[in-house]
Amino acid sequence: MKLLAIETSCDETGAAVVADGTFVLSNVVASQIDLHRRYGGVMPEVASRQHVLAILPVITEALERAGSGWQGIDGIAVTRGPGLSGALLVGVNVAKGLAWSRGLPLLGVNHIEAHLYATWLAALGELAPEPHFPLLGLVVSGGHTELLLMPKHGTYKRLGRTVDDAAGEAFDKAARILGLTYPGGPAIQAAASSADGREVALPRAEMPGTLDFSFSGLKTALLRATQYTPTLDVPALARGFEESVTDILVRKTAVAADLYGAAEVVVAGGVAANDRLRSRMVQALGDRVRFPQLEYCTDNAAMIGAVGYQQFARGQIDGLDLDVNPNLDLAA
Ligand code: KG4
Ligand code: ZN
Repeated sequence: MKLLAIETSCDETGAAVVADGTFVLSNVVASQIDLHRRYGGVMPEVASRQHVLAILPVITEALERAGSGWQGIDGIAVTRGPGLSGALLVGVNVAKGLAWSRGLPLLGVNHIEAHLYATWLAALGELAPEPHFPLLGLVVSGGHTELLLMPKHGTYKRLGRTVDDAAGEAFDKAARILGLTYPGGPAIQAAASSADGREVALPRAEMPGTLDFSFSGLKTALLRATQYTPTLDVPALARGFEESVTDILVRKTAVAADLYGAAEVVVAGGVAANDRLRSRMVQALGDRVRFPQLEYCTDNAAMIGAVGYQQFARGQIDGLDLDVNPNLDLAA
C-alpha cells in the first residue's frame, strides 16, 4: 500500500511516497525559509505563491526518487489543517486534481496528528518502531503546543495546551529579541551551546493545577533582561530561555505521564529537534520517551502519509468536496 503524500500547511512544500504508513520511499522538502527570513517570520501570501511554484516539481521529484513513478501509488494523502488557509488550499487542490484524474482515493490529514505519527517512520529496510498505548503525546511546533492522551490509533483527548504563544513561536520571538536569525529554534540552540556554563535565570509560568502552558510572559522577561543588562551576553540569555522552556515542558509532561499511566511518551514537532529538550526528557522519562528522527521533526510530507495510511485502513476516504480547515482540532 503506497501513498503519495502532500504537505503545504506553512512554509515548507513537501511531497513523499510512503509504503504501509511506515516506510519512507522518498521525502522531498522545499523550504521557503530563505524567502521569509527577511520578514523575521512567515508571510502568508508569500508562502501561498511559493507553494504554487514549488508543488508540482516537488511531487515529480518525490515520485522519481521513490523509483517507480505513479506505478503502484494507491492513494493521495494531503494536509487539510491546521495551518495557513491560502497555503493549505494549494496542497488540497492539487491533491484533489490528482485523485480525480488518476481515480485514486483521497485522504485529508490533520497536521498535528501527523507530527505524532512521524515517530514511527523508518527508511526501507530499517526496523520500524511501533506505538505503545495508552500513549502521551507532546506536540511542540511553531503553531502548536499540546499535550494529548492517545488510548489507541486515531483517538485523542487533549490534556493541556498553550494559552498564548506556541513553544516554537516563543523560540522564534526570543531569537528576534536577541538579534538571532529566523527560524529561532536552531539559532537559540546554537547560541545556548556556546554559553559555557553561564545562564541568565528566567521565570517559568507554572499554570498551577493545569497541564496548560504559557510562554508570552517569558518572552517579556527576556526582553526586560536585555534592556537592563549593560553588555548583552547572548549565549547566557539563550541558555536561560531554552532552559526555562524545556524545564516546564519536561515537568508537565512527566506529571501527565504518571497521572495517566502512559506506556509511552512521544515528543514531536519542530521543537522536538531541540537537543536540550531531548536529553532532559530522557533524564525524566527514561526509555518510555520517543522522538521522531530529526528530519521528521520539522514539517514534511512523509508524516502525512503515515496518518493517511491509518485513515485508509479504517475506510475513512474523503470525497472531492474535501475542504481546508485552518483551525482543525484534533481533540475536544
Ligand atoms: O513543526 P514545524 O516545522 O512547523 C509547524 O508546524 O509549526 O516547527 C517549526 C518550529 C519553529 O518555531 C522553529 O523555531 C522550531 O520549530 N524549531 C526548534 C528547533 N528546530 C526547529 N526549536 C527549538 N530547537 C530546535 N533545534
Ligand atoms: Zn508542523
